[in-house]
Amino acid sequence: MSTSNPKPRILISRGVFPEVVQRLETYFEVEPNPTDTVWTKAELIDRLRDKDGAFTTGTDRIDAEVLAACPKLKICANMAVGFNNFDVAAMDAAGVVGTNTPDVLTETTADFGFALLMATARRIAESEHYLRAGRWERWSFDMFAGSDIHGATLGILGMGRIGQGIAKRGAHGFGMKVIYHNRSRLDAASESACKATYVSKQELLQIADHLVLVLPYSAESHHAIGAAELALMKPTATLVNIARGGIVDDAALAAALRQGQIAAAGLDVFEGEPKVHPDLLTVPNVVLTPHIASSSVPTRLAMAQLAADNLVEFFGKHKVLTPVTALPSGVSR
Ligand code: GLV
Repeated sequence: MSTSNPKPRILISRGVFPEVVQRLETYFEVEPNPTDTVWTKAELIDRLRDKDGAFTTGTDRIDAEVLAACPKLKICANMAVGFNNFDVAAMDAAGVVGTNTPDVLTETTADFGFALLMATARRIAESEHYLRAGRWERWSFDMFAGSDIHGATLGILGMGRIGQGIAKRGAHGFGMKVIYHNRSRLDAASESACKATYVSKQELLQIADHLVLVLPYSAESHHAIGAAELALMKPTATLVNIARGGIVDDAALAAALRQGQIAAAGLDVFEGEPKVHPDLLTVPNVVLTPHIASSSVPTRLAMAQLAADNLVEFFGKHKVLTPVTALPSGVSR
């Protein structure tokens, strides 16, 4: 009779790279989701109740109800740097470890933030739609005249790793003046590496030519940009959100764009996504992308592998690489 312990049972909640599924199958008894179905909470619970661990994504809400229904669960490894899909307090109370995927996506996401800023300020999407619609008949002096990036003032709200990546691109690549606001001020060496000046949120809104949002979503950051904040911005300003839906009040933003209160917006994330506020779909001066800021092939693979590493380390060595919750006794980082 075999004396070896059965393999831990792992749920992979969404479709993921086949090589990552295969790798997990060498360590675990895996239930994958090859059809990439987005399960309801009840469907998720059904599949998770007999599992020891889960490979999750930002679309899976792990809260007290899920945890109570899944008493064997010990770890949820999120394939995302953001983890607002985790109820961290409930996970801490249940002794369930949560991990995320920081660092591996920083540069790719900063690249995208800059791309969305360029597309927004220089009206790239809007002019492309015009051309495709067969409306381009002649040159005109102000055709899709936007605002400049080089030499402009770049404002960043949320100066973590991705915010600093965007600041460096702006300061060193495009000669921008960089100002930022964050819950805590960076140390002098980091400020100098980004050539960034700390300002109040009000100054940031009033001074920035281009404002990029890169702060985590929380109750505190819900609607951090609403009608009052938009009213403080310059009428020539652009706003870019690559952080999370809910940080911007999308209805207020659509109204501000329609009224010309700000010039344009680039949005990769939305309140209640994948639904998009209908008013945003009808204003021309907004660039809309479906939450793809980290989506280069190498980076998405690196994120998936880091989530898998967390599961392998946890069950093999009682360690995790990138925890976002408290660690129960016997588990280290
Ligand atoms: C993407 O939004 C992430 O949090 O990784």
